[in-house]
Amino acid sequence: MAKVNYLRVSVTDRCNFRCRYCMPEGVREFIPHKELLTYEEITEIVKTFAQFGVNSVRLTGGEPLIRQGVENLVSLLSEVPGITEITATTNGFLLKEKAGELKKRGLKRVNVSLDTLDPKKFAFITGTTEKALRQVIEGIREAKRVGLTPVKINTVVIRGFNDTEVLDLVAFAAEEGVEIRFIEVMPVGGPFFSKERFVPLQEVKEKVERAFGSLRPVKVKKQGPAKSFKPENLNVSVGFIPSVSEHFCDNCNRLRLTSDGKLRLCLMSEREIDLKSIIRSEGYRPHHLKLAVAQALLAKSAVNGVEALESLGCSRKMFTIGG
Ligand code: GTP
Ligand code: 5AD
Ligand code: SF4
Repeated sequence: MAKVNYLRVSVTDRCNFRCRYCMPEGVREFIPHKELLTYEEITEIVKTFAQFGVNSVRLTGGEPLIRQGVENLVSLLSEVPGITEITATTNGFLLKEKAGELKKRGLKRVNVSLDTLDPKKFAFITGTTEKALRQVIEGIREAKRVGLTPVKINTVVIRGFNDTEVLDLVAFAAEEGVEIRFIEVMPVGGPFFSKERFVPLQEVKEKVERAFGSLRPVKVKKQGPAKSFKPENLNVSVGFIPSVSEHFCDNCNRLRLTSDGKLRLCLMSEREIDLKSIIRSEGYRPHHLKLAVAQALLAKSAVNGVEALESLGCSRKMFTIGG
């Protein structure tokens, strides 16, 4: 197993969108505010991880930019010794407004979810409005303008919805000068997932190759689930995250902190360690957290998400984990 150097921190389970593959319809119950980790608690946890070699933190949600004062969290984290990269994964709706400030506070780059360029389809898949698409596109441009780069677009590919739009999305990314990554839909969003909706990324890859020329691998310094390529005839980086057809568990370098303070050893496995109750317990001392983190890192080496993926099950929904 790879060394764990990357922590995904979900700062809220709430979202201003309702993507069908992420939040099942009718979700009304969210974690009460007092059960969310405070920004100070998150910082304390990140400090501890940094002592064990974590250098990269990704803020996720729900939608991380809707939590009030998230820019203050970025400031706090950028002061943590050893943390060299703070990034965020966002739906982009608030980027136009917040990108500049986030950049100033120390955010390095953003990944933005965008599944379609058709306003009607956008409204359908995100549960928002047709106009929201324009705002997300403007958010992507603003992120680029202020230097939250490289900006990456995340596209979940869904049969019968956007599988016919793949080439348009690649052309769009090329025009905007951003990267695009296609993601296989995973069985973690409730009933939306089905075999009929699933598109193996090999199919997408072949389509891109036929249209834009053969794909040459792009060397990336960072470890992660995406494999990136450049088509011969188009200046753009196209990545693939085949979460279902390939298992990257053996090379996994990451842990996840849920917004209610549970450390999740793997996206798909149910093993969680309750860090919030440690940090909030009477008589808490930093070495208590240190011990828990050391134990979690040991336990991580024995965890593997393949089983959960293959049984197509995972009881926590995506928005509570942060992807
Ligand atoms: P980069 O640092 O830019 O490479 O980010 P990233 O791809 O690690 O993060 P992002 O939040 O953009 O995630 C993109 C997609 O990859 C999401 O759908 C995630 O759920 C998925 N993903 C990220 N990490 C894992 C993982 O460990 N296992 C699986 N199966 N999917 C993952
Ligand atoms: N399958 C695959 N990707 C998903 N995401 C959310 N739910 C799912 C799912 N069921 C993606 C979002 C976002 C990232 C954090 O996770 O599109 O880019
Ligand atoms: Fe919100 Fe992201 Fe889930 Fe969409 S995928 S509902 S934007 S958390």
